Amino acid sequence: MSQAAPFAVRFDPTNQELVLSGKIRPEGAAEIADALSLMQQSLERYSGVVYLNVKRLTHINMTAFSALADILAESCRTRPERKIVILTSSVMAWSTPVFEKLAKHYPNLTVEVYDSAFYPGQSFVEDEAFIPILRTQTKMTWRHERELLPRHGLRSGLVVADICCGIGDFAALVQREFKPSRLVALDHSVRSLDYARRVAADFDLKEIEYTYGDASQMLLRDNQFDFVTCRHSLQIFDRPEMLLRELYRICKPGGRVYITNEKNSHCLGEPHAETIKWTYEEVAKLFRHFDMDVEMGPKSRHLLADAGFDAIKVDTFMVTNLDGDPQDFADIIEAWENVYAGQMAVRRGDTPEFIRRFRQGFKDHVFAALHPKGYAGWPIWAASGRKPL
Ligand SMILES: C[S@@+](CC[C@H](N)C(=O)[O-])C[C@H]1O[C@@H](n2cnc3c(N)ncnc32)[C@H](O)[C@@H]1O
Repeated sequence: MSQAAPFAVRFDPTNQELVLSGKIRPEGAAEIADALSLMQQSLERYSGVVYLNVKRLTHINMTAFSALADILAESCRTRPERKIVILTSSVMAWSTPVFEKLAKHYPNLTVEVYDSAFYPGQSFVEDEAFIPILRTQTKMTWRHERELLPRHGLRSGLVVADICCGIGDFAALVQREFKPSRLVALDHSVRSLDYARRVAADFDLKEIEYTYGDASQMLLRDNQFDFVTCRHSLQIFDRPEMLLRELYRICKPGGRVYITNEKNSHCLGEPHAETIKWTYEEVAKLFRHFDMDVEMGPKSRHLLADAGFDAIKVDTFMVTNLDGDPQDFADIIEAWENVYAGQMAVRRGDTPEFIRRFRQGFKDHVFAALHPKGYAGWPIWAASGRKPL
């Protein structure tokens, strides 16, 4: 990953926000005098809440930190009625504890970890229980996607990024099958990335650059990838357009961004079509409760167009129990039941009676998948758009 970000400071009066980014490593405070004076002036001039955004501040040395801390401390002392909120990101693991230490001494200084509130469903998806689901899901969707991807522009020799790569198995399959010239796979879950690296080592795939990062604010340069993928992830962000903006930014003009999303209420099965339908309609409502939209699939064209892409292509495919081993599909459904009924519905505070009925639809779906004459399906939308030249 490349990130030779120089140090930058700017004040945004609309949000009363002072934004520091890049690497601040001066030898003496005089080197950053302009930045310090902008900070001092903004703090003096504005009332109410002033934000200090350090989400993309990748490095700071002691000289700079002391100078910054002195200004904050002085400002907190002289204007106790005014609040200063420091916005950190968990991607910069050092920053939250460092600023929290400072905040402890001043009641009007607080620290907010920006991305902890950003993605309400994070804890469910990052839970280790999700890893086997992701793995079996990818195995089942790959049968379809390997056929579709060339139509969406993937071919060998491209510079590719898989954003929100999860446990990295899609990246591993792309690496093997399409031989990109470079492949960056980024995710926000340390556990998933550890798993991804282990899988890549087991398969002797050395070239994939598994990278920790926040997909909504990536430390990746603009216009560098020919093909950017983001699978099953826009639908779990509460602000998908923000993520799409980043996918657009890192894509080269003329390159393509490929996304996959579901429409959970259209999962189906026979026999027991009705109970299955009811449960998956409830799945969609449950995700909505946690600010996630698992009905996003058919909205892909709209989303890509609004984000500025052209030459949009949309495909749909149905993963079914006839695709391979029906037990694989049954395993996915059981895993969904465990997370959705066992964790999310409980967290929402649903009654035991609701949860029992909710579980029944999953059980019927498994029954349909394993029945010798049964049929079970899970529809997925695969769409891509070109970044205009
Ligand atoms: C539903 S999973 C999909 C994973 C993978 N693309 C797949 O299809 O199997 C969503 C992924 O998005 C990741 N994620 C969520 N928020 C993120 C963020 N802010 N930055 C990077 N990754 C994030 C999660 O850790 C998780 O691995």
